[in-house]
This record gives sequence, structure tokens and C-alpha cells, in this order.
Amino acid sequence: MALKKKPAPKKTEVYFSEKKSVEVVQKRSGPKANKRVKFLVDSLVKHMHAFIKETEPTLDEWMAGIQFLTKTGHLSNDWRQEFILLSDTLGISMLVETINNRKTTGETESTVLGPFHVSNAPRYPNGANICLDGKGEPLLVSGTVHNVKAKPIAGATLDVWQTNEDGFYDVQQKGIQPDNNLRGVFTADEKGRFNFKSAYPRFYPIPYDGTVGDMLKALDRNPNRPAHIHFIVSAPGYKPVTTHLFTPDCPWLKEDAVFGVKESLIADFKNKGDHWEVEWDFVLSKA
Ligand code: BEZ
Ligand code: FE
Repeated sequence: MALKKKPAPKKTEVYFSEKKSVEVVQKRSGPKANKRVKFLVDSLVKHMHAFIKETEPTLDEWMAGIQFLTKTGHLSNDWRQEFILLSDTLGISMLVETINNRKTTGETESTVLGPFHVSNAPRYPNGANICLDGKGEPLLVSGTVHNVKAKPIAGATLDVWQTNEDGFYDVQQKGIQPDNNLRGVFTADEKGRFNFKSAYPRFYPIPYDGTVGDMLKALDRNPNRPAHIHFIVSAPGYKPVTTHLFTPDCPWLKEDAVFGVKESLIADFKNKGDHWEVEWDFVLSKA
């Protein structure tokens, strides 16, 4: 009787090959791996290996990429975050932000926070002027904070910041602009209403003297953000919204370097001759 041939043991892939690269790396994690970290890293490996297989970089190109990221890290410190800028200019910040703030009930849409928000900006009463350097065309901003059923939210907080006429935030020009120029925190009154004076915003370039600037130049992309005013609007029991108001006439509206423009955030700034006015309602949903 012929001896039955033993089936060959199933080959497990432990050695690296181009074909099985993803599987080999993913299988390396052990039984105690953190599930969420493993999910994230496995997905990153899958997509990064696909990127390498599609683009087939030379060794020099790969090293240039490593050097780009190294320099990006070296440029980052307490007041400059080149990695966030990289994420912003690749549209990744907006994607993460949009996925985490899917709107369903008519609340105000959100957009990027950006690197120039300052916690503990001065608190002002309604009607105050946040333009401390007197530059730019005067602007009156007013409106209401209400819930998705149009009920005013008394006591809502509005944290506001913007650049000056020269296109810089106060924190970018310490000693040149007054501290806290064009930023402040306001409280909506018992009818949810707020108002303050400021200056008509203008477009400005994101910092482009670093690796992100090099990338934008190589891609023939502009570094400009269309004119906007930043807001974080919050109230107890409601989901805070980080958002902007964009002017409708800015030439860079359709080419925002960080993809932050959403159509619903383009406001009607009215020219009143010696000043501008914009009226805007912020809508918050329950937390
Ligand atoms: C800003 O609007 O302040 C901003 C957002 C992203 C990158 C740089 C600046
Ligand atoms: Fe900004």
C-alpha cells in the first residue's frame, strides 16, 4: 500500500518580499497589541506600502523625503508648528475636522482652528473695539447665537481673532502690534445677541519660509488664506464650534492654501461708506 504523502506545512510568511510586504509587517505585532493602535498602524502600513509601490521612489528621493520631514520637525517649536501646517496644506486637517463635525441639524459649519488662537484673550463687553492699532477699514460685527430651533442662547461665549491690515496676527508681530490686537472674548446678552468693532479682514499668506513653503513652491501653489475672522463659539450644554466668517469678495476664496472655505461660511459684508458691517447668526447643537 502506497504511503499517504504528508501535506506540506502551510508556509507562513515571515520573510520580507515585495509581494507580501504589508502582511509581513502587520503580522509582526503581538497578542498584547493595543487594538486601536494596531488598527491605525496596520492601515498606515497598507497605504504607505501602496504609495511606495505606486511611486517607486529612488533611494535619493526617499532620503529627500526623510530630510524634508526631519527639517519639518526641527522647525516646530512652542510658537511654530510646521507639521500642523503640513497637515493643513495637504487637506488632512480639514478632512479630520470635517469627519469629526458632520453637521446634520443646521448648526454652523466648522473649519480649521489654525495656529494663531490664544487662550485667555481679553474679555470685552459688547460694543468694544478689538482693533488696537487703528489700522484698516472699520468693521462692525453683530449677530445672534441660537440653537437649531432658533432659541437664543443667552451667555454664549464668542472667542474672536483675526489679522491686521498688514496680514499678520499680533502673535506674529510681538513688539510691532499691540498685544492682543484684533482678538477678544465676548458674551452674548440675554437675547443671544453680540456685537463688536474690528477692522475689515484681508487675505494673508500662511508662513511659507519653511519646508511647507518649499513644498508649495515646488507644486506651484499659492500660500494665501482668503480674508476671514476666526470664531470659537461655545455655551454650556452645547457643542462648541470652531469656525470662520469669510468675506465674499476675496480673490483667494476658491484657492485657500489650507482648504478651509465652506460655502455656508461666506458672509455678506456690507460697505456702508465709511465703515463695513456684517451680521451673522451662529447656530449650536446640543452637546
Ligand atoms: C489661520 O487661519 O490662522 C491658519 C490656518 C491654517 C494654517 C495657517 C493659518
Ligand atoms: Fe486665520
